Amino acid sequence: MTGLSQRIHALKASSTVAFNAKALEMKRAGVDVIAMTAGEPDFQPPQHVLEAAHEAVRRGLTKYTPSEGTRELRDAIAKKHARENELRYEADQVMVSTGGKQVLYNAFMTLLDPGDEVIVPAPYWVSYPPQIELAGGVTVVVPTRPEEGFVLDPDRVAAAITPRTKAILVNSPGNPTGAVYPEPVLRAVAELCERHDLWLITDELYEHMVYDGEFVTAARYYPERTLLVHGASKGYALTGWRIGWGCGPSALVKAMNKLQGQSTSNANAVAQYATQVALDEVEATAAFQAMTRQAYRERRDVIVQGLNDLGLRTPLPQGAFYAMADLTPIDPDETVAATALLERAHVGVVPGTDFAAPGFARFSYACSMEQIRSALERIGRLLA
Ligand SMILES: Cc1ncc(COP(=O)(O)O)c(C=O)c1O
Repeated sequence: MTGLSQRIHALKASSTVAFNAKALEMKRAGVDVIAMTAGEPDFQPPQHVLEAAHEAVRRGLTKYTPSEGTRELRDAIAKKHARENELRYEADQVMVSTGGKQVLYNAFMTLLDPGDEVIVPAPYWVSYPPQIELAGGVTVVVPTRPEEGFVLDPDRVAAAITPRTKAILVNSPGNPTGAVYPEPVLRAVAELCERHDLWLITDELYEHMVYDGEFVTAARYYPERTLLVHGASKGYALTGWRIGWGCGPSALVKAMNKLQGQSTSNANAVAQYATQVALDEVEATAAFQAMTRQAYRERRDVIVQGLNDLGLRTPLPQGAFYAMADLTPIDPDETVAATALLERAHVGVVPGTDFAAPGFARFSYACSMEQIRSALERIGRLLA
């Protein structure tokens, strides 16, 4: 279409959304599709959080809030990070946005000048490069290897640093790989940032889904130049409520809030209140997270074993709710293979193309065990 900006012509649509939409369309047409495409918990939010949203409406907490989020929610976020991560943030170091996605967008728009480079480990979450490029930046991809469980090698990061590097991004536990970076890796990346005077952006949306070992935050090493990105979507099962937050140096947070104040203003007021309750009601929320973590762990074990048994190489992910399987036995082209899974086995997955994971596809196991077992049977029949 003519009349649109070059910027929007250059922007790629999200393939996750596209494959999910295709799977849902087939479902609507009456096909029994098992959609393992979406990146969201299949659990309903915890009851106390649902009740808090009702209470917010009853109490009339429905007006604009400060652009950076309510003071009560920002305090609850600061307390969460002190309690769970031993990080100290003042209220002016915390801002609330419409999902972690907007925190990241604000950050790239605030930090990058045209031509500035951001180092991003691959396979990566689909939205990082488009957001970086919208801000005029350049994505510098550092690959990770399936045989290393997709864990980042800091030496490869060091080799990718140039005079134009502005930031390094890490996402652990990661989407789409489920990789959890060990402490020495995160420390080494933070040291590189400090040595080269770079920003560290750490996307910790999947903090509460770690199945082997402990979650470590990358924000503890170089807080002066680290932006921690988090939110309510995954660990609190509040995807559609659109609450994310960013924590970092106050000057960065203030600058990001200037952008937000002129673009979207505050995140949803009712959802801010509900998230505050999710963070403050520590025991009830921890019980919910323990229950969901256990369910994801059981599903992970079944799907990873099942895919490997079928001859589709799948490294064991230590976190998040995704498994990356090598689909080359089905077809060397991952889009062709994922299309075959959808159209012939009626199992929806996302091909690795837009994650920079050629040959692989992402299986989301945020679905029931019954669906996982049935999907494995269908794939088995397709391969036979
Ligand atoms: C790695 C990662 N970061 C950020 C986000 C953004 O999530 P939200 O905007 O729902 O907080 C997602 C969502 O899928 C994600 O997977």
